[in-house]
Amino acid sequence: NPLQGAQFVLAAHRISQLPPDDGAEVAFAGRSNAGKSSALNALTGHRGLARTSKTPGRTQQMVAFSLPPLPQGEGEAPLTVRLIDLPGYGYAKVPEELRAHWKQEIDAYLHRRRSLRGVVLISDIRHPMKEFDRMMLDFCFATHLPCHVLLTKADKLSRNQAAQALAALRKELAAGGTQATAQVFSSQTPTGVDEARAAIVTLLQT
Ligand code: GTP
Ligand code: MG
Repeated sequence: NPLQGAQFVLAAHRISQLPPDDGAEVAFAGRSNAGKSSALNALTGHRGLARTSKTPGRTQQMVAFSLPPLPQGEGEAPLTVRLIDLPGYGYAKVPEELRAHWKQEIDAYLHRRRSLRGVVLISDIRHPMKEFDRMMLDFCFATHLPCHVLLTKADKLSRNQAAQALAALRKELAAGGTQATAQVFSSQTPTGVDEARAAIVTLLQT
């Protein structure tokens, strides 16, 4: 597992509190309760790493995890790498003020974070491409930021239904002209974990 050895670094209320903006990082974004933290745990192979919950709105900060540095070519220093768990987006019970704060912080993070190499967009395969997901994809498209979509909770559908959902999404992505990639995923079964790990390593090394 290339994402093994992840460690909690810190939880930040604003981007200024994040670790130094060097090396490379990949952010996990998605609607509240989509399964971002669960995906992080499955991908790093570390069950208790990110806190998960049945209650939407669990992750209320930007949480930074470090990975062991990635070896680079001969004579090059190893690359410092991080994964960032972003707060879930769009949960109605979170007070309006806090939601506005997060929208602003996430926007600022996406615009200003120089070490950001790509976004892993986590979307529930049963309700893919809601408003937030579209917004994130549009943003990535406009800024040339690579995006890899995990259609998660695939264990809730039959294999055939999951394949159909993926085909529909890929068709939509292609029609929109985005370079975003997509796959089926489940943190529970687990499904698509190796594929997602490889996609993340590719993002980090871009
Ligand atoms: P916030 O931090 O609140 O935005 O949520 P999150 O996106 O981090 O979601 P989290 O990982 O906490 O998961 C939310 C709920 O979905 C929990 O009850 C998880 O157990 C469940 N869940 C997450 N991934 C999967 C999955 O692949 N399959 C199934 N069946 N349930 C999942
Ligand atoms: Mg979370």
